[in-house]
Amino acid sequence: MLKEFSLIDLASWKALVTHYEEVNDLHMSSMFEEDDKRFQKFSIDHKGLLFDFSKNRITDKTFDLLCDLAGETGVSEAIHAMFNGEKINITENRAVLHTALRDFSEKDTKVDGESIKPGIKTELLKMKSFSESVITGKSKGFTGKRIERIVNIGIGGSDLGPVMVSEALKAYQCGPDISYVSNVDGAHLDEVLKKCDAETTLFIIVSKTFTTQETMTNASSAKSWLLEKLGSEKAISNHFVAVSTNAEAVKKFGINPENQFLFWDWVGGRYSLWSAVGLSVSLHLGYENFEKLLQGAHEMDEHFRTAELSQNIPVIMALLGVWYNNFFKADSHAVLPYNQYLHRFPAYLQQSDMESSGKSVDKNGKPVTYQTGPIIWGEPGTNGQHAFYQLIHQGTKLIPCDFIGVIEPQNKLSDHQDKLFSNFIAQSKALMKGRTLSEVEQLDSSSNSVFKVFEGNRPSNSIVLDKLTPFSLGKLIATYEHKIFVQGIVWNVFSFDQWGVELGKVLAGEILSEINSNTNSGNHDSSTCALIQRYKITSL
Ligand code: F6P
Repeated sequence: MLKEFSLIDLASWKALVTHYEEVNDLHMSSMFEEDDKRFQKFSIDHKGLLFDFSKNRITDKTFDLLCDLAGETGVSEAIHAMFNGEKINITENRAVLHTALRDFSEKDTKVDGESIKPGIKTELLKMKSFSESVITGKSKGFTGKRIERIVNIGIGGSDLGPVMVSEALKAYQCGPDISYVSNVDGAHLDEVLKKCDAETTLFIIVSKTFTTQETMTNASSAKSWLLEKLGSEKAISNHFVAVSTNAEAVKKFGINPENQFLFWDWVGGRYSLWSAVGLSVSLHLGYENFEKLLQGAHEMDEHFRTAELSQNIPVIMALLGVWYNNFFKADSHAVLPYNQYLHRFPAYLQQSDMESSGKSVDKNGKPVTYQTGPIIWGEPGTNGQHAFYQLIHQGTKLIPCDFIGVIEPQNKLSDHQDKLFSNFIAQSKALMKGRTLSEVEQLDSSSNSVFKVFEGNRPSNSIVLDKLTPFSLGKLIATYEHKIFVQGIVWNVFSFDQWGVELGKVLAGEILSEINSNTNSGNHDSSTCALIQRYKITSL
C-alpha cells in the first residue's frame, strides 16, 4: 500500500526545514577535517559497486532526518508494494513489475491472480533461441545470406535503454552490427539505410503500443525499402521482427506472429529494457550477456528490497536528491560518467528520471507546493571539464553531481586510464574543498587572485564500478531506477505515468492534417497559424 500524506505537513519535513537553516552554511571541508571517519560513515561498498556519498552537505543529524523522511513517507511499504505486484501505477491501473523480469528465483509473482513467471520464461527462451540462431547464421535472410546488421526501430523507452547498453558494452559484441533509428526525421532512417544491405539486414520494430507515430512511420518506410530491394512480400518474415504488448497491431502491420516478442502492460516503457525490448542487445551482445545484465539488476533489486533505509544505496541517493532539490533549491542534477562507453547513460537517465518525476500534481490530485524532479543532464568526463564544469565550479547555481568511475579499462592504451581516473577523483575533491583567497595568494600574488577563488562546498556522489560488465551495468541501471522510485514516493507523485507527453502528440496530429489538406482551421494563435502557413508555402 502507498501511504497517503501531505509532504510539507510531515514532522520529518518540518524538522528538515528547521535543520536546513542550522546547517546550510557549514562547509564540507571542515566536516572532513573534524571527522576522519567521514568516508567510512558515508559510503557503502556493495559487491563491486562503491557508493561514496561523503562529499555531500550533510551532518549525522541531516542523514537521520532524511531517513526519518523516508520512513514517514512509507518508502519501505512502497518497496514492498511494488515487488509484490500491487497496482501502484494507479492512474493507469497497472502493476509495476519490471523487477520480475530479472528475477530468476523460484519466487512467484501474480498480476490479477495469474502467475507472470511462466510468460517471462517463455519470452526469454524465445529471445535466447532467436539470438543464437541469428548469431550462428542458422537464421538467414530471404536470399539465404547471413544476417550482418540489426536495425532497431523504436523511440523513448523502446530505444534509449537498448542504445545505451549496446554502446556501454561494445566490447562484448559477438553478434551482428547494430544501428538504432528513433527520430521521425527521415534523415535518421536514411543515413542508417545507406549502411545496410537488404539481404543481410534484420529490422526489429519495438513499440509497447505499436501506435507511436515515429516508430510506425520509420517501420513503414523500412518495409517499403526492403520490398523495393528484395521484390517479394515473402521477404518480410525473414527480415522483420516485432516487440510489443499489442499483438493485434503487430499482425496488422504484416509481421509473422512467430516473429513477435511480447511483453506486458505492467512493464513501463522506460523500464522495458529488461523485457524483449532488449532483443537488440541480446542479438548484438549474445543472450548470455543480456541475462547477465538482468542478473546484475536483480542483485541491486535484492539490496533495495532488503537493506535498511539507512544502508540502502538507491534510498540514500534519492534522499540526497530531495535534500538539494527542495532545501537548497537546486534545479538540476548532473550525471558525469568517467567512461566513454557510458556516453549515452545521461541521455538514458533523462527519460527514466524526467518522465517519471516531471509531475506537478500529487497523489491526492492537488497541485504540489514544492519542487519535484530536477533537470537531469550530463556528458562524459573529461570532455565536460572543458565545456560546462566552469559553471559547476564557479557559477551561481548549485549543481549536485554524480561522478561515475570505472576502475578497470576495456582498452589498455598506455596511461590513459590513470589519467582518466585521476581526473575523476580530482573533480569531486575540487568541488568539495574549493580554494580560498589566501591559498590563491600563496600560489600567485597577481591582482587577479579574486577570480581564482573557488568557494567549494559543492556536493557530489562518487559511484565506482570495478569493471564495466553486463552484470555491473545492470546493477548501475537498477540503482538509478530505484532512486527515481523512492523520489516519487517522497514527492508523493505518480512515477509511472507520462500524461505530459500526450498534448503535443494530439496537436501534432491536428497540425499534420492541416498541412496535408487545404484546410486552415483558424483554431490557432497567430504564431501557430503563421508557422503552418510558412511551412505550407515554402514546402510546396
Ligand atoms: O514519450 C512517451 C512514450 O510513451 C514513452 O513513455 C515511451 O517509452 C515512448 O513513448 C515509446 O512508446 P512505444 O514503446 O509505445 O512506442
